[in-house]
Amino acid sequence: MKAIGVLALIGCVVTVIESKIYSRCKLAKIFSRAGLDNYRGFSLGNWICMAYYESHYNTTAQTVLEDGSIDYGIFQINSYTWCRTEKQQQKNHCHVACSALITDDLTDAIICAKKIVKETEGMNYWQGWKKYCEGRDLSEWKKGCDVS
Ligand SMILES: *[C@@H]1O[C@H](CO)[C@@H](O)[C@H](O)[C@H]1NC(C)=O
Repeated sequence: MKAIGVLALIGCVVTVIESKIYSRCKLAKIFSRAGLDNYRGFSLGNWICMAYYESHYNTTAQTVLEDGSIDYGIFQINSYTWCRTEKQQQKNHCHVACSALITDDLTDAIICAKKIVKETEGMNYWQGWKKYCEGRDLSEWKKGCDVS
């Protein structure tokens, strides 16, 4: 019994640390179900393209910036304004712990991304999107995926 308990515990810890890379179509499905397709006029392709260039679909991606703030997760959401860490609690516009933005469950990250698009009036927040996705034909990004 004890051994099984320990194994189960190790299993949990490994699951938490392991980074998850979503496939393009799996993301398309999750994004679509979460209402991102055409959210504020941005088609599904915009979101899939943006997530690719921001994180390569890596849910645990973290990038430390020069000012000491950190970009978190699949959408590389920044701790300075949008989420809270132990050191940085003031702005937290998404009312969420930054650690909740690097889990396999994308619910919080999607809610926060929607808020960013709403508050900043568009997707310009994401450099990857501006550079590689904005104004392009993005239909390829959902090609072959089981989404309408
Ligand atoms: C995903 O991001 C984490 C954190 O930055 C990194 O340690 C891991 O190697 C990345 N995974 C892949 C497959 O790139």
